[in-house]
Amino acid sequence: MNPLADELNSILEGTIAGRLLSNLGRRFYFPKGIIAQSTEAKKSATVANGTIGMAYSDGKPMILSAIADNMASLTPEESVAYAPTAGVEKARAVWKDLLIQKNPSLDPAKISLPVVVPGLTAGLSWTADMFISKGSSIIASEPCWDNYSLIFEVRRGAELVGTPFVGIGEGLDMDAISEAVRRMAKTGTVRIIFNFPNNPSGYSPTTGEEEALVNLIRETAEGGADVLVICDDAYFGLFYEDNISRESLFVRFANLHDRVLAIKVDGPIKEDFVWGLRMGFLTFGSKNLNQIHYEALIKKVMGAIRSSVSCTNTSAQYLMLKAMEDERTPGEKGRYRAILQRRYNLVKSFTAAHPNHPVLRPLPFNSGYFMSFHCEVDAEALRQELLARHGIGVISLGEHYLRVAFSSIDEEKITETYRIIYDVAAKLGEADF
Ligand SMILES: Cc1ncc(COP(=O)(O)O)c(C=O)c1O
Repeated sequence: MNPLADELNSILEGTIAGRLLSNLGRRFYFPKGIIAQSTEAKKSATVANGTIGMAYSDGKPMILSAIADNMASLTPEESVAYAPTAGVEKARAVWKDLLIQKNPSLDPAKISLPVVVPGLTAGLSWTADMFISKGSSIIASEPCWDNYSLIFEVRRGAELVGTPFVGIGEGLDMDAISEAVRRMAKTGTVRIIFNFPNNPSGYSPTTGEEEALVNLIRETAEGGADVLVICDDAYFGLFYEDNISRESLFVRFANLHDRVLAIKVDGPIKEDFVWGLRMGFLTFGSKNLNQIHYEALIKKVMGAIRSSVSCTNTSAQYLMLKAMEDERTPGEKGRYRAILQRRYNLVKSFTAAHPNHPVLRPLPFNSGYFMSFHCEVDAEALRQELLARHGIGVISLGEHYLRVAFSSIDEEKITETYRIIYDVAAKLGEADF
């Protein structure tokens, strides 16, 4: 039991609620992680708030014009009518077309129609409901997005096998990943979640590394293990270097081997700057599954949807459709991405110009919203110092990692923010030694 859950349970002990809690209810807690630290930073991060997993500019979330303009003009059918359980048909078809446009190597006949879910969290949670049992294990990057622990461990009673996907070298630690996969393959089933661009490291595999991952999974399947590959593509498309494949890893796994089932969890939340609209998609792909199999899987997901949220928000689906049809959208998305690219370039220049920091080591990063440091000082102490004395909000993850969301720090503040982070960390380091 997580100590935070224990703390809540002890507060409720002896009460009617405490006596009635289910086993799952007893396991629930609210982590002192990203959301809690972000809430704290909202009040105190007066200089720069690098906690938010959103793209901000001038203190406001970036928004596509088509979304802003159409909010008030949706018809009753587009706004308040129930949506079908698996989503508005047109939204599903359009997203599938977009998947093919963004991933031209994907064969549309080989994958399912995407199912609409209210955000990627829901998509991941229902994927876990369908494929992760109590006692199952799933390999994830260490560090990983903190919600994986609630989704896989707390809800499903599974074990997250944290593996340093990025290590002390330049890129992926293929030895660590291969070792974890080969060890799990001995049980006959491998479950692994790939989240690229990664939260919190901000890393995506180079084309060479992607090949190595595909070979590893192919060999594992050929060796007789069944492999579930979940591709959490929350930050898809935000690639800042030329040597990263522009297509999702899902493309490679969806048609790899009949022992590999790939599930793509993605959506417009980050790709189209609509975080609060709560809309995502879940798509299946496996070499020997056909559309009849996919229909059966989709019906099962519909059971998960029906029994939890019933259906996804209708207006989000129609707004997304309007945004996709609006001729201003591609240009605006390009401009927003260019803003993020410029911030990334500044962070890269800063970290390259200041190598060998005594206590901070940037993990490899080349994509997404974030970059993270491995800290030789206590990351939480550093976070609190930055927030309380310097008005800078960042996220500490465990004792050793500090995540900075450059997606939410304006360009003109990036260099100064990093200078302060480096100075404060160095001073804390001196105090420690
Ligand atoms: C890696 C990762 N996956 C999934 C999500 C969930 O996104 P959503 O807001 O669509 O639930 C996030 C959000 O921060 C994330 O960082």
